Amino acid sequence: MTSHTPLLYIETYGCQMNVNDSEVVASLMCGQGYAMCSAAESADLVLVNTCSIRENAEQRVWGRLAELRALKRKKPQLMLGVIGCMAERLKEQLLEKEQSVDVVVGPDAYRDLPNLVSMAKAGQKGVNVELLREETYAEIEPVRYNSNGVSAFVSIMRGCNNACSYCVVPYTRGAERSRNTQSILREVQALISGGYKEVTLLGQNVDSYRALAEDENGKTETCNFARLLDQVALLSPQLRVRFSTSHPKDMSNEVLHVMAQHRNICKSIHLPAQSGSTRVLELMHRKYTREEYLERIAAIRSILPACSISTDLIAGFCTETEDDHRQTLSLMREVGYDFAFMFMYSERPNTKAARRYKDDVPEEVKMRRLNEIIALQSELSLKAKLPYVGKALEVLAEGFSKKSNEQLFGRTSQNMVVVFPRGSHSVGEYLTVTPTRCTSATLIAD
Ligand code: SAH
Ligand code: SF4
Ligand code: F3S
Repeated sequence: MTSHTPLLYIETYGCQMNVNDSEVVASLMCGQGYAMCSAAESADLVLVNTCSIRENAEQRVWGRLAELRALKRKKPQLMLGVIGCMAERLKEQLLEKEQSVDVVVGPDAYRDLPNLVSMAKAGQKGVNVELLREETYAEIEPVRYNSNGVSAFVSIMRGCNNACSYCVVPYTRGAERSRNTQSILREVQALISGGYKEVTLLGQNVDSYRALAEDENGKTETCNFARLLDQVALLSPQLRVRFSTSHPKDMSNEVLHVMAQHRNICKSIHLPAQSGSTRVLELMHRKYTREEYLERIAAIRSILPACSISTDLIAGFCTETEDDHRQTLSLMREVGYDFAFMFMYSERPNTKAARRYKDDVPEEVKMRRLNEIIALQSELSLKAKLPYVGKALEVLAEGFSKKSNEQLFGRTSQNMVVVFPRGSHSVGEYLTVTPTRCTSATLIAD
């Protein structure tokens, strides 16, 4: 017997929800006597929290698992676990003997992790990939082991009930469910007390947040996203509130009005378009047309004149023609996005698109279209920043700039990154900065 505290190292891939899930896992494991460490080499247990959204996301993880296997050969008592979306999707492959993976746990089974790790230590594989309709980890207080102490993610729902034809998330994360309102408010209140200055409320489709109460007449709605946002914003005027992701088919004017009412709700909306072509949007099962999308943009512009808008775009979806692609470029110009995440379509096994359509846009065409999208966005991003040069902006300092310890970076309400001289300022402070120049990615104060 040793009295050594077992050390856990978690490596996280994928979206913000995975980042927050890793914090939930850290909380569950620390509750069982583990302490966090910051390198696989010093750990007793390594958990890789994985993403399946595109083929290359999975490839990266397979590559990393090969390295961890090599580490395990040098240190045989090391336990290796794969959790998250790939665990859900690829359990069988992960459990093949040559992978040397001891534990495989899906996104809804983290409460079972301590038990599964014990099983693995006793020589059995620890496996649980059950998806649970009710699990929201509502009362678990995430351990924010990688945090800057300023910004925190708070999951308000899990899963997804949409059926975008290209997407694995409904399969890896299961059905949508909303977390109970009180537990969200309690968590945010605790963050405020702990000195945090910013929360980002997370869900695959935050606009469909719906808390329900059950009585003899059945289920009634007690809270929707607009009201949740309002209540979170009221907790403290010093707390910045952000959220992601909004869905064009569900984003309501009620939400936009709540944003307008609260200075501390950041004026920035991530509204993934995916494509500018109504024909492609229909094949994607996005359930809105180009015109309906633009109607939502017009609503944002009229209710929130100073709001920034960002998006996700997919290049080369099944059957996409040059004309469809040009419509995506023209949508980008018409909206004038501040920022975008841009991807090449990657067919995911068993999704509707994989079953029904041919992945028929050649790789080089996808790549060329993606490059055109990226080039245009870089123009648009620059154009969106220029009006802020020379203006006094309120910035929340979030950390040291990558280039120098003499510079801090922070973001504006519009989610624009600003780099500025540190002076006597510290991380977590609100301050006014006047940028003197900008690149397409950053505003800079000299
Ligand atoms: N729930 C969010 C998005 C989650 S996934 C929403 O609906 O907006 C993040 C982004 O990954 C998506 O918006 C989409 O642009 C991209 N994506 C998802 N599946 C993809 C695939 N098979 N190939 C390429 N990009 C994909
Ligand atoms: Fe995937 Fe669509 Fe759900 Fe977003 S809304 S997670 S793209 S299925
Ligand atoms: Fe990836 Fe799963 Fe998030 S597939 S994007 S980690 S929900």
